[in-house]
Amino acid sequence: MTVSTITTAPIPGQKPGTSGLRKKVTVFQQAHYLENFVQSIFDTVPELNGGVLVLGGDGRYYNRVAVQTILKMAAANGVVRVLVGQGGFLSTPAASCVIRKYHATGGIILSASHNPGGADGDFGIKYNIDNGGPAPEKITDAIYARTQALLEYRISDQANIPLEKKGSYTLESMLVEVIDPVADYAELMQKIFDFDAIRAWFAQGHRMHFDAMSAISGPYAKQIFEGMLGAAPGTVVNGEPLEDFGGHHPDPNPAHATDLIRIMALPDAPELGAASDGDADRNMIVGRNFLVSPSDSLAIMAANAALIPAYKAGISGVARSMPTSRAADLVAKALDVPCYETPTGWKFFGNLLDAGRATLCGEESYGSGSNHVREKDGVWAVLFWLNLLAITGKSVNGIVTEHWARFGRHYYSRHDYEALDVGIANALMAHLREQLAGLAGQCFGAYCVAMADDFAYDDPVDGSRTANQGVRVLFENGARVVYRLSGTGTEGATLRVYLELFEGNSAQHAVPVQEMLAELIVIAGDLAQIAMRTGRKEPDVIA
Ligand code: G1P
Ligand code: ZN
Repeated sequence: MTVSTITTAPIPGQKPGTSGLRKKVTVFQQAHYLENFVQSIFDTVPELNGGVLVLGGDGRYYNRVAVQTILKMAAANGVVRVLVGQGGFLSTPAASCVIRKYHATGGIILSASHNPGGADGDFGIKYNIDNGGPAPEKITDAIYARTQALLEYRISDQANIPLEKKGSYTLESMLVEVIDPVADYAELMQKIFDFDAIRAWFAQGHRMHFDAMSAISGPYAKQIFEGMLGAAPGTVVNGEPLEDFGGHHPDPNPAHATDLIRIMALPDAPELGAASDGDADRNMIVGRNFLVSPSDSLAIMAANAALIPAYKAGISGVARSMPTSRAADLVAKALDVPCYETPTGWKFFGNLLDAGRATLCGEESYGSGSNHVREKDGVWAVLFWLNLLAITGKSVNGIVTEHWARFGRHYYSRHDYEALDVGIANALMAHLREQLAGLAGQCFGAYCVAMADDFAYDDPVDGSRTANQGVRVLFENGARVVYRLSGTGTEGATLRVYLELFEGNSAQHAVPVQEMLAELIVIAGDLAQIAMRTGRKEPDVIA
């Protein structure tokens, strides 16, 4: 048992994106790649020396190898105690829950979220701070800066820890506790929701279909929905986490959760359909033949929060990422609470939650959550909807259409153009930015531009400014187009175009989304010269 100092050299490109460092597995398998990044975390966060670390991941290919390496490096870098999920598993929200519950110094989460897995797929790593949330940019920037200067890392040569068995082990002088990955999280959910009401709802014969997409939500969903709440066995499908997610793309949206959409369109479909992504922080909610848009889901949660035990005293505010539709803003106004508009990525919600300024947060990318942890939370969102169904006796469709009738409907869609040439994508964005100053006042058919800018966020809690967060074009009729490049992709560039149109008249609320948005889609394409610059006629994903 010795700790060695290994000589290394800086590796270019280890810059965390929207949510940690994500690369192909084959990149992570290069000599020193993982080690350099992990040492840079330890060097950037000196409190970990003598501190407590939470460790786990979504079980994708390379998870086990990485967990063992990180344990050995943690021991060599003076960490006193590590809480690691059994099998190396921890969903992202569960990791956040465990960091908070045990007052850990921080956590390392291994996941590439909704990106495909397997030997040819993606892997990822991110550092979360003591509030349980993703490290803010000043820390991720410092980690990146460290990777660019790193010359050595420290690692123990002790044998692997048996991760399959719960228990306590020592690694050098560090205590390793292999914990049940589900227990703490399940306990927290029980404190938030009315489990008795949900149990009674299932006992009455109501049904749900939860697709875990062969990812990490499976064990959580099985224990909570089937085990604790009495949902029929088989409610959770694809519930075994697989290293390659069964070859599927573990992203809960209509493009990738096609089985769920099909099942929910059958005549005998259950009342609620849901799915979650690779690391269980995303959610998709589906009623009978009816997809709930994530932006609407956030607004509906906010409007109905008082029906949920944990939020019955009211919510302090709502926060949404800038591209997320403005449906939640109207609810916040009606509740007379603030609505914050942040850049894309969950890390921007942390300060608002810590400061008690927001209780509920959400993103259009199938993510919602609350102040119970500092990550978005897929199973939590499904429990929220289950609780609403159980308490109101209404259907998903009924809840949504009543919401639209009261607040109006924000028609919304995101069009993604994937794996674009990076130069072409950057030039497209640059061209948009060049036009910004002259756009206001221009009309495209019935759509006249009221305002256009490149979104910048001033954090009201720490005063930090984050600029260049996406081009937004607001029209006088309330429509909006937002353009930004993805910060999570691992292949070329992904252009995301977010389209939104408000319709107050309920007589119009049954019009299909893409039909309603048709004119705006053409305008958005022309403004950015998408077809001309990329050669693409259609988006790869419509979400
Ligand atoms: C995407 C989503 C964003 C989400 C992130 C992590 O990031 O758009 O809302 O927080 O994944 O799940 P992007 O690829 O757009 O940078
Ligand atoms: Zn995720």
